[in-house]
Amino acid sequence: MSTDLAIFGGEPIRKEPFPAWPRITEEMKRSLIHTFEEEEWGVGSKTITLFNEQFATMQDAKYCLSIHSGTSAIWICLKAAGIEAGDEVILPSYTFIATATAVVLANAVPVFADIDKKTANLDPTSVEKLITKKTKAIIPVHTAGAPADMKAFLDISKKYNIPIIEDAAQGHGSMIDNKKVGAIGLGGIFSFQTSKNMSSGEGGAIVSNDESFIDACFSYHNCGRVRNGKWYEHFRLGSNMRMSALNAAVLLPQIKSVENDFILREQNRQYLDSQIGGIDGFVPMDLIPGSRSSNHLYMVRYLKEEFNNISRELFFKAMQAEGVFTYKGWSPLYKEPLFSINPKEYPWLEGRNYGDLFHSGTEIIAEEQAVWLRQNHLLGSSDDLKDVVDAFEKVSNAIKKNPKKFDEIKL
Ligand SMILES: Cc1ncc(COP(=O)(O)O)c(C=O)c1O
Repeated sequence: MSTDLAIFGGEPIRKEPFPAWPRITEEMKRSLIHTFEEEEWGVGSKTITLFNEQFATMQDAKYCLSIHSGTSAIWICLKAAGIEAGDEVILPSYTFIATATAVVLANAVPVFADIDKKTANLDPTSVEKLITKKTKAIIPVHTAGAPADMKAFLDISKKYNIPIIEDAAQGHGSMIDNKKVGAIGLGGIFSFQTSKNMSSGEGGAIVSNDESFIDACFSYHNCGRVRNGKWYEHFRLGSNMRMSALNAAVLLPQIKSVENDFILREQNRQYLDSQIGGIDGFVPMDLIPGSRSSNHLYMVRYLKEEFNNISRELFFKAMQAEGVFTYKGWSPLYKEPLFSINPKEYPWLEGRNYGDLFHSGTEIIAEEQAVWLRQNHLLGSSDDLKDVVDAFEKVSNAIKKNPKKFDEIKL
């Protein structure tokens, strides 16, 4: 292996692409053509019913409702949980923007809580401090598929009588204390957008064990209609957020394949943790004891102080030149331009100075330490994974040996 970094003209470690994603299988093609030729494409399709049944079973839930996106699914859950204008909803400041925008779209107030830097998941202590009389829901996010501390959140839920809506957009098959995520709280959502471990290009789902909650979700996702009601009778301000049966057809075979992939993802995650975690300056993420992650993303922490204070961003540049795309991921949500609120557009958020927030866990993870690697790497062969580790080692050694050289890299 050449020790000259590719960014300075050496040979890159990796010239081939990593396994492609999404992956197209014969089963997916058969399922799609069957629905295309033999079924309704939308309302009334047996494919949708089958998907709802099978995905509910996969996630240990009584009910599942397929939705056109994960973002809409969060909005629907909030409405079905009874969120009204001006209510407060607590969520992590380290998550995808949709977790927060769904709250604003429900005319409610996002209240950001900090994360635990060791897990990158919502910190229950931070949540409890933010509870007020107006708090009407809490949204733990299973970041990168690693389950949030659901036991702690269920205790908080009971103590204050506040429902938990799980953002399991990345948590297909994730599990904690022998229960799949999603329906551990009142209800939860999943995403099937292209990058996810189960993909139909776009798509989402809600799971729950609560019949009246799922019935309310049904109404919000179906123009305010009620189950078995009249087509032109509308009880709630809902919308058309139904999933196409063609998307459900693409997803159905993945209910099996995602489970088969799990073993490989887990094996590869453990290999990366042991190899990358063996390099001084990298710390693998902690998992809550008793949990299993879907390993949606591979995440590891970069400790700048062990790398002569060379920033993570320079590390990324050098890694990208080696043919291994590592990147930063999310920013603290309270810093997003969206949250410089225009009180005319969002009067119920007036006086919320999101820009003044500073969460130490979120800041250190988002702005300094998080290194993300997309999930398709975790479906690679041992040779693929060795290239990932070799690139981490090569770049780390170069930074430690000659940090001055990195001044030449332009960001
Ligand atoms: C944590 C999280 N929440 C919500 C979403 C929104 O899902 P979708 O893209 O399907 O709307 C995503 C997906 O990107 C996500 O990663």
